Amino acid sequence: MPIGIPDVAALADLFLIFLGGESGLIGGTSAAAPTFAGFVSLLNDARLRSGLPTLGFLNPLIYKIGELAPTGFNDITNGSNPGCGTEGFNATKGWDPITGLGTPNFGKLKDIVTGKSTIKINT
Ligand SMILES: *[C@@H]1O[C@H](CO)[C@@H](O)[C@H](O)[C@H]1NC(C)=O
Ligand SMILES: *[C@@H]1O[C@H](CO)[C@@H](O)[C@H](O)[C@H]1NC(C)=O
Repeated sequence: MPIGIPDVAALADLFLIFLGGESGLIGGTSAAAPTFAGFVSLLNDARLRSGLPTLGFLNPLIYKIGELAPTGFNDITNGSNPGCGTEGFNATKGWDPITGLGTPNFGKLKDIVTGKSTIKINT
């Protein structure tokens, strides 16, 4: 499995922000990154409630999940990101350069990181 940027994705369009006293809508990486970080905080909360330590550095775990329990992420398999005079990349089955392994499936990731999934991954 290739490892690159991005590792993962999150639905991040039409986020309401306030800047300089004005409201506006944004989308893209600057909305997706904190959204994914929020999921990780909730996963860490579930681990702490189960008496487990927080996850720490995530990348090895993310790619182990991608390999052993790929339903932990919702694989994005269509769409593309044309821009800057190029046709961009296509989303494909598995990891791709637009959406990485996909968007988080919180329920499945929570079961994996708290040891409740039938698929055991050393976290
Ligand atoms: C993308 O995939 C989804 C889910 O399979 C499908 O519903 C949708 O029609 C597809 N969109 C395009 C543009 O192929
Ligand atoms: C993406 O898919 C389209 C339609 O199948 C194809 O024409 C294009 O060459 C693909 N782009 C890349 C970068 O593979």
